[in-house]
Amino acid sequence: MKPTDNPKTYRVKSFGCQMNVYDGERMAELLATRGITPAPEGEDADLVVLNTCHIREKAAEKVYSDIGRLVKAGEARGRKPLIAVAGCVAQAEGEEIMARAPAVSMVVGPQAYHRLPDMLDRAVAGERGTDTDMPAIAKFASLPDRRKSPPATFLTIQEGCDKFCTYCVVPYTRGAEISRPFADLLTEARKLVEAGAREITLLGQNVSAWSGEDDKGHRQGLAGLVRALARIDGLARIRYTTSHPADMDEDIIAAHGEVDKLMPFLHLPVQAGSDRVLKAMNRSHTVESYLKLLDRFRAARPDLALSGDFIVGFPGETESEFEQTLALVDAVGYAQAFSFKYSPRPGTPAATMDGQVAPDIMDERLQRLQAAINRDQFAFNRNSVGRTCEVLIERRGKRPGQWLGKSPWLQSVWFEGDCAIGDLVEVELAEAGPNSMRGAPRAAIAA
Ligand code: SAH
Ligand code: SF4
Ligand code: F3S
Repeated sequence: MKPTDNPKTYRVKSFGCQMNVYDGERMAELLATRGITPAPEGEDADLVVLNTCHIREKAAEKVYSDIGRLVKAGEARGRKPLIAVAGCVAQAEGEEIMARAPAVSMVVGPQAYHRLPDMLDRAVAGERGTDTDMPAIAKFASLPDRRKSPPATFLTIQEGCDKFCTYCVVPYTRGAEISRPFADLLTEARKLVEAGAREITLLGQNVSAWSGEDDKGHRQGLAGLVRALARIDGLARIRYTTSHPADMDEDIIAAHGEVDKLMPFLHLPVQAGSDRVLKAMNRSHTVESYLKLLDRFRAARPDLALSGDFIVGFPGETESEFEQTLALVDAVGYAQAFSFKYSPRPGTPAATMDGQVAPDIMDERLQRLQAAINRDQFAFNRNSVGRTCEVLIERRGKRPGQWLGKSPWLQSVWFEGDCAIGDLVEVELAEAGPNSMRGAPRAAIAA
């Protein structure tokens, strides 16, 4: 490759989970420290970072069509952009991307992106490079502080996963479970609050596996971390995602009943409603143990809103096993949930299992499952009408004087009033829609 000019503008496109979005924001900040600015909306950028996701085939294939589009647009304007492929596809298929897509000059994995600026220097000099090392948590120390934070923001507390569900690529793309140290997290959370955060969502592929030593040398789990964060003045709300049923202990259940700042919302993926399928997935819970766990959470926090993830069409799933998933949804009454068609991922045990389910059957099951989830989400919203709660304003609505934010139960709430982004406003939930609530503000609450 020939040397090129230093890029002046960048665009980071994130395709994956919240951790992927978090990584995308950190990469943008790293590029900003180099004086590169975000490309204005609608304009081509000099440097494009494709921050990819490998979780399902559709997501992974997107990267190649995107590269093709960028090359075409670059040819049309007579100047090709520098292209970096980051994220979980980069980790899983780095060499393949380099071979298949000559237009890509940088491939950088999710644990190595703090080295993106150095790679960029080399790319500008005409050198292509791949960095998919997994140097534990080194990257966090090398990332710039966030000087400005939106009211609701994310903090990665843990990376990787040791669970090896048989369908999932995450243990391969993100590596083994690693917890960031307690003191680092408290420091970063305080800085985020100073920078404007009112709500922090603790992120990790498996946050319930977080553990660390507090300032007194005591071992703490997720609940200990939540309690310590709750003591930060100015921080109003704490959430966490994603957790695994196997790691949820008595302490985190109790924290939901005791820590006011911990929001009454729990995303606890179950994946399927048949014990045979759960076993084949290498999930360590049964339907009964999952439901019992939810009962304990609800006993600690009766208004807890529940969320989950589901896969339909796992290899060997029969119609009656799928119906058990529908029965589980009926039994729980989720406030929201995500559902996916099973996608065979290279290198995972399930990809070569017998009984792969036909696409049209998966389509049909997904539709039925989503109809059940949507029904329950609407019911949850209707049951919330009349409740008074705080809404954290995250952005303006379409019309003047209209504001959008989240209820404690993570519902989107819109309302009209005289307030500002970052305000916590007391609102009565006045009207329910399938995906959002209309609120009627009571009064702005002081910080
Ligand atoms: N660490 C989280 C999230 C993992 S990825 C957890 O364990 O819950 C998010 C969701 O994607 C998973 O919960 C699962 O429902 C879905 N998923 C993962 N691999 C998949 C695959 N091969 N096909 C379809 N859905 C998948
Ligand atoms: Fe994937 Fe299972 Fe780990 Fe979640 S717990 S990231 S689904 S292996
Ligand atoms: Fe996708 Fe990687 Fe997240 S595979 S879901 S971006 S951890």
